[in-house]
Amino acid sequence: MAMQNGKLSKELLSSQAHIWNHIFSFINSMSLKCAVELQIPDIIHHHGSPMLLSELVEALGLKHERTHSLYRLMRILVHSGFFIKQGGGNDEEEGEDGYLLAPASRLLLKEEPLSIRPNLLAVLDPTVLDSCQNMSKWFQNDDVTPFHTTHGMMLWDLVGQQPKLNQFFNEAMASDARLVTHVILKDCRGVFEGLDSIVDVGGGTGTVVKAVAKDFPDIRCICFDLPHVVNGLVGSKNLSYIGGDMFEAIPSANAVLLKWILHDWSDEECIKILKQCKEAIPSKKNGGKLIIIDMVVKDQEEGPSELLKTQLLFDMMMMSVVTGRERTEKDLAKLFVNVGFSDYKITPILGLRSLIEVYP
Ligand SMILES: C[S@@+](CC[C@H](N)C(=O)[O-])C[C@H]1O[C@@H](n2cnc3c(N)ncnc32)[C@H](O)[C@@H]1O
Repeated sequence: MAMQNGKLSKELLSSQAHIWNHIFSFINSMSLKCAVELQIPDIIHHHGSPMLLSELVEALGLKHERTHSLYRLMRILVHSGFFIKQGGGNDEEEGEDGYLLAPASRLLLKEEPLSIRPNLLAVLDPTVLDSCQNMSKWFQNDDVTPFHTTHGMMLWDLVGQQPKLNQFFNEAMASDARLVTHVILKDCRGVFEGLDSIVDVGGGTGTVVKAVAKDFPDIRCICFDLPHVVNGLVGSKNLSYIGGDMFEAIPSANAVLLKWILHDWSDEECIKILKQCKEAIPSKKNGGKLIIIDMVVKDQEEGPSELLKTQLLFDMMMMSVVTGRERTEKDLAKLFVNVGFSDYKITPILGLRSLIEVYP
């Protein structure tokens, strides 16, 4: 009532628009997922020139009655920067405007080596989305995660029990690893120089260490992950796979790589992992270090930014599916000190994430 009496209509309507914007923002993800599942980016890419709506309908094998619906899907994706409409007309009836890929859509192509399509499909899979639906339920119960409330077990256990989900999840991780590895090996090679050996803990199917092993033939590389992830994978001259549990022991090496690991776990769990990492590497004097790739959440005081927004969204996703969280520099430093590491260096070279070197 106070709102009706005390606020101007303009403010009332702008509050409504603000809420609507948030209510409907899932439509952005779902529209993008729809386009990716239909392989619209691939079809437009292969067309090689601006693709008319009628050509897209035909290439997709859709019934003519779906033409206007496809126009509406493309309209929102043009608006959100995934496609470019050449010609700039507003009406699908004009028929002369064609669709082209915007730069971001190249990363959604099936055949693009750095594609993050598998990552998109995994994050927007009902396995994850259903957990987000149960957040409020979880706040009021004693389960470890909303994922647990939804599936009755932890993410890693479900993945371990379902071979198809295991493959789907590992490919999602590998697609991100390909992109990150590409940037690190191009812009930050120094981080690997001088190492005799490296173990990628929770390294998935080995995307990062495979590339390191190839570029640095003198570094002995180990991909260490749960047995259901690495069983059956074949290494090379300087790459081996080892199955195990990082909470129990980690194979020894000059350096330990933890990419997208700490954000999966609570502070208590991270401390256990970091203690095992410290056991696995030599002293700083003898070249021991941890290489961590994770987000360093920006300070809220720095004011609103797109980067911080995405980091906060990511943090809520971690809260829904695992026991971990995205951390600020202060949060990370506390963990390092707790385990007895002497120093760290953060290089914010990976967009939303950073490269963090930690020394014993
Ligand atoms: C978020 S994924 C990151 C994968 C990879 N580092 C990357 O960024 O592409 C986390 C990885 O940790 C592995 N993992 C989970 N629990 C583990 C454990 N107790 N011991 C070893 N690896 C584990 C998972 O199997 C998974 O591959």
